[in-house]
Amino acid sequence: MPGGGVVHFARSSLLVRVAVGGAVFCGWDGAEPEPSYALADGCPQADARAVLEPDKDGWRVVSERITVVVFRDGAVEFRTPGGVVLRRELPPRWWDRAGRPSRWVQRSRTPADADVFGLGGRPGGPRLDAGTYRLWNTDPAEPFGPGVDPLYITMPVMLVAGGAGCHLVFHDNTWDGRVVLREGERGDGSGHDRPGCCEVRMDGGPLRYWVIAGAPGRVLAGWTALTGRPALPPRWALGYQHARWGFGSEREVRRVVAGYREHGLPLAAVHLDIDHFDGHRVFTVDERAFPRLPALAEELRRDGIRLVSIVDPAVKAEPGQAVYDGGLAVDAFVRDARGDLVRGVVWPGETVFPDFTDPAVRRWWGGLYAERLERGFAGVWHDMNEPTSFAAFGETTLPRSARHALDGQGGDHRAAHNVYGLAMARAGYEGLLRLRPKERPFLFSRSGWAGMQRYGGTWSGDVATGWPGLRASLALVLGLGLCGVPYSGPDVGGFSADPSPELYVRWFQLGAYLPFFRTHSALDGGRREPWEFGAEALRCAREALAGRARLLPYLYTLAHLAHRTGAPYVRPVWWHQPQDAALRAVGDAFLLGEALLVAPVLEPGATSRAVRLPRGTWYDTATGAAHRGPGQVVLAAPLDRVPVLARAGAVIPVDGPGDTVELEVWAPAPDATGGGSLVTDSGDGWAAPRRERYVSRWREGAVVVERDGAVVTDRVVRVRGVAG
Ligand code: GLC
Repeated sequence: MPGGGVVHFARSSLLVRVAVGGAVFCGWDGAEPEPSYALADGCPQADARAVLEPDKDGWRVVSERITVVVFRDGAVEFRTPGGVVLRRELPPRWWDRAGRPSRWVQRSRTPADADVFGLGGRPGGPRLDAGTYRLWNTDPAEPFGPGVDPLYITMPVMLVAGGAGCHLVFHDNTWDGRVVLREGERGDGSGHDRPGCCEVRMDGGPLRYWVIAGAPGRVLAGWTALTGRPALPPRWALGYQHARWGFGSEREVRRVVAGYREHGLPLAAVHLDIDHFDGHRVFTVDERAFPRLPALAEELRRDGIRLVSIVDPAVKAEPGQAVYDGGLAVDAFVRDARGDLVRGVVWPGETVFPDFTDPAVRRWWGGLYAERLERGFAGVWHDMNEPTSFAAFGETTLPRSARHALDGQGGDHRAAHNVYGLAMARAGYEGLLRLRPKERPFLFSRSGWAGMQRYGGTWSGDVATGWPGLRASLALVLGLGLCGVPYSGPDVGGFSADPSPELYVRWFQLGAYLPFFRTHSALDGGRREPWEFGAEALRCAREALAGRARLLPYLYTLAHLAHRTGAPYVRPVWWHQPQDAALRAVGDAFLLGEALLVAPVLEPGATSRAVRLPRGTWYDTATGAAHRGPGQVVLAAPLDRVPVLARAGAVIPVDGPGDTVELEVWAPAPDATGGGSLVTDSGDGWAAPRRERYVSRWREGAVVVERDGAVVTDRVVRVRGVAG
């Protein structure tokens, strides 16, 4: 069999297959890679150069980046080409195998020094402590902080980094389960419970998994080759956006927008929450409060401001209502084993739930977005799609017995739950694409699963207002990025309460460096407009917005890069040095692309903060002072800015006057070169982008920037980091 083969044991079998690109698939007991909700284009071709051959321990498959050894007792080892063990899977255990689907557990060991990241959006991360992590998408019902698990997006995706290298393991199974991380045998005395042993327990579904090894960039490229490259947002979606639950009326929207204009603050989009619906019914409008929505949209559009609409999956169970009647006509709603509609309670009252795992239902639902487009909305915000149904007791989702099409496979909510949001995202994305094929859909979704990046991004959900919530905001973005979902950001200011001006400013400053930059709050959560927090906060927010606007060409380049390679915009500081344990422990700073290291303030009362530097020379962008890594420096962090460092040699495209783009170049080390790139397009649509690559170097005592081997003369180049 090309790529590997099947090993037979007394009571089970294991398929090992290396795919082109280097990802390794392992499937127990007949589990094949397909069908899968995660894979973008089905199973990639097998790498014919890899073959299953006998080994002294049992069997092995040798491939370019990984050697798989299958032991006679059923253990499986993944080794680097140099023979270092990345992970060892112990023989799995099943229960009640006769009555499929059965529960199973698989234990594995990773080198004792390795750390685990990922598992979807975990607010306590990015590095995951020893503990139990549930795989069941859940609305926590209350605003959450770092201690809450699970949240809206869970994924059986783990990125493991340690001295031996880096790999990603993905258990392709949508069922409820738990991942238990245990402390390794050798503690390092850091006080951090470092997992060295991992246990994946699933309530059912196939025992199959993928392993991708290599440096983080390679791993993310491999992962998004398998599960789909991240959707490219339209350019405006990188601007600052304002949402609120409870605008209440067109007048209030106009008042807030006018406030931004009067204060001279840029605004890219306004998001309308459920209060603009008629009685909270999805795909309707409260015509009394929003009598001329298309005109409002048009008016905002002239000022460069887009309208974004919330879309909830639950449909009010109300005969005579177009969406309900239309759904019944195509048998769109989830039913139980007896064939009765499964009912729940969400914002509009008694509701039913479209079965997005049915292709015909996805098509019907996608068509409903025509109404949103006619109202003038430019993008959609999927919410409550874990799915959530309010309940006084028991789980706040659909019953396990609810039936789902599962794309022809058939099954119940145990298998469909975790992919409900993913399938809804697909319905929305494909619908928007059919309705408006020339524009890139802008969609972000509260819930999702492996592969959701194909359709759009996500946001924090209801993060609690408070300093712990601010920290959790960054953990989510970093963790999701390592799971292949690069476009996300928090409710700036927190969802739930009134932040102090200081907390608001620090959240705003963090948000300004994250891909999705949006203020939002609950009905009773207080205001989030920058001028509501006093003159000092307004000045700080203005600075942050100006910084964001300046960086847009760079951020847009990162969006293109994420789309092309899967590399997230926001990366952990160990991105280039996964073997550095001290860097892996950093949860309060991040790399923004290749060029910048951002160190937000996540604590009250700070006027300075410690920043751990990766290798190389880094310039404090505020002072121009150079610092050499590895090591730690303490940098000033007054209320009006957070420390941002630029890598020596970096060429950063920034916004210039008019429509121009300038290049900010940070002097490379004397004997070294640096570089960067700029990707541009019309801001939307599908035309191939233009990519310019820059190299920075010293030449005759001066720093120059070159493109295609020639010194750049057609762009303003600002050299920084050179004394005098
Ligand atoms: C959920 C969402 C939140 C939204 C609210 C009302 O709590 O997470 O963002 O404002 O529902 O629609």
